[in-house]
Amino acid sequence: MNLEDKKLAINGGEPVTKNFIIIHKPEITREDIQKVTESIQSTFVSGDGPDCRKFEEKLKEYLGVKHAFFTNSCTGALDLAYMVRDFPAGSEVIVPNFTYTSTALAPLLNNLKVVLVDVNAYDGNIDIKKIEEAITDKTVAISPVDYAGNPAEMGEILAIAKKHKLYVVHDTAQSLGAIYKGKKSGVLADVCCFSFHGTKNITTGEGGALITNNDEIAAKVKIARDKGTDKYAFIDDPQKKGFYEYVSLGNSYVQSNILGALGISQLAKIDTITARRKEIAAYYTRELKNISSLKLPTPTKNGETNWHLYYLLVPPKHKFWIIDALKAEGVASNVHYNPLHLNAYYKELGEGKDLRNSVEFYSQLIRIPIYPSLSDKEIENIATAVKKVMGAITI
Ligand SMILES: Cc1ncc(COP(=O)(O)O)c(C=O)c1O
Repeated sequence: MNLEDKKLAINGGEPVTKNFIIIHKPEITREDIQKVTESIQSTFVSGDGPDCRKFEEKLKEYLGVKHAFFTNSCTGALDLAYMVRDFPAGSEVIVPNFTYTSTALAPLLNNLKVVLVDVNAYDGNIDIKKIEEAITDKTVAISPVDYAGNPAEMGEILAIAKKHKLYVVHDTAQSLGAIYKGKKSGVLADVCCFSFHGTKNITTGEGGALITNNDEIAAKVKIARDKGTDKYAFIDDPQKKGFYEYVSLGNSYVQSNILGALGISQLAKIDTITARRKEIAAYYTRELKNISSLKLPTPTKNGETNWHLYYLLVPPKHKFWIIDALKAEGVASNVHYNPLHLNAYYKELGEGKDLRNSVEFYSQLIRIPIYPSLSDKEIENIATAVKKVMGAITI
């Protein structure tokens, strides 16, 4: 181990690259800009417009599902997933402890109780073995997450859900384009929720979608998504009634028509985006697999990740030094969310629980850049920087 190595840029040496490589860049092309411009110039710029409907049609086609609803975030879609069910207050929802806050916020916003379950220390997805012991007679739902775009073990999760009659809200925020046992991520559960936030594989700046094959849920989502009005039916056929009414509780989760246009042109590129991400990930894995102080992502056995993220599992005590050292070499890297129970708001939910794998996973995790517009030279520089920096801490 030689953290003082003078060849490292952090110690005054020459950096691998002088053109700093940022952690993420959305894949926005001239075509996207053209589509957005056309939509702005149309007379319809507000919510649930014709481009939103067309984007929903394209999403349905791509996934092979009955219903897709474009929302202004995945958080909103997750909220809707519970809003349209009448679970008694205090009913329990199983949530993996390693996830973004939204997976837990959605049940909490609907007066439900969150029960945290630990994840696998090697991939951050919910630990299947721990699910059943968390189920009580109050459990009504489970919300698995596909961390980094790598599918959770949905076969086992759905079997457990069926056995205990649980509603499954699959948080697929990160996994558009991923596959589990030959099926696309986003089609497996009662409800699936995608994110099109700026960092996701396809983006509408902010945005999300609720996907379901359940007609009853879909009918309620149409109303709850648009402030509890029956405006959806009115837009469908304004002649039928001539006005719309306030028919239930709801929230404002429709998305602008401008962003619907962006969604259409982004979705058209999903296969090339996923293919380039796979190529980059394969290169990193080839180049980095023999570094003894490093563990690389372990894709789910029956799944195909969309490589939303590429992460390295490094010795925890050197994690922040590694991030600084990579930065000095000209490569951005970053941590990711910390386990829910380590955040002030969720602290109580972790009391008395064994959540050590989430802590182990998080404490080792560093994300490195992965996005389609990275050039071959850039990915070479990223791998070279990782090798150079990790070389100093090889044990
Ligand atoms: C697992 C997970 N769920 C939900 C969200 C929330 O997505 P949004 O920002 O679209 O609300 C994110 C965002 O990164 C996420 O990673």
